[in-house]
Amino acid sequence: MSEVDDLKKAAGEYAVDNFIQSGMLVGLGVGSTAIHAVRRLGELVQAGELTSITAIPCGHQAEEAAQEFQIPLVEFTPTTRIDVTIDGADEVDPELNLIKGGGGALTREKIVAQSSRREIIVVDESKLSSKLGEKWFVPIEVLRFGWQTQMGYLESLGSEPVLRMAENGTPFLTDQNNYIIDANFGMIDNPIFLGEEIKRRTGIIEHGLFLHLATDLVVASSIGVRHISHED
Ligand code: A5P
Repeated sequence: MSEVDDLKKAAGEYAVDNFIQSGMLVGLGVGSTAIHAVRRLGELVQAGELTSITAIPCGHQAEEAAQEFQIPLVEFTPTTRIDVTIDGADEVDPELNLIKGGGGALTREKIVAQSSRREIIVVDESKLSSKLGEKWFVPIEVLRFGWQTQMGYLESLGSEPVLRMAENGTPFLTDQNNYIIDANFGMIDNPIFLGEEIKRRTGIIEHGLFLHLATDLVVASSIGVRHISHED
């Protein structure tokens, strides 16, 4: 494992070890950091150190890992409240606002986040920025039908939009079989306003700006792991 992978592992495992208790309903995030949390959770469930855990996955990756570790998965009901979700992020500002969706799972991740009492974001220190947009574009999930029409709209909002491609050269497909447009807005002065503007158009399903959703941040760096609460 590379040094960055070590940090991702340390952040993911810290979140499970410190915030998950027996009996909880857990949201399972997607990505190369969150997967360490899913694996750690699975190990503790299999060892009998955590009991009566159930989970809701944010994407196929988390679902497959949960099945591998026999973590029982459940569906949402109209009254579901997830106790704790552990997920990654592409960029985190000082207010714990996020850009997510580098793995394409942003829509399910946001549904899970908004249904969670606690949304714990696990990152290595390279994800921290002074202002959203400093390090990452905004991933936007769009319906395949008429996706071309969204490009001009996103340009009119001041971005440089690019249709995300898969490694095989065809358009990247989300778990819901939609496309992702990565829109580079540069530094984002008013993410709330921008998020509302992006969502104005029919066919745009969701964007990767996660505003006021994270309650906790776990950051791993070469000097150790620290926890920051939104209340701090
Ligand atoms: C998945 O769509 C994303 O939101 C990920 O949580 C995010 O891209 C962070 O991924 P890594 O932990 O792999 O950097």
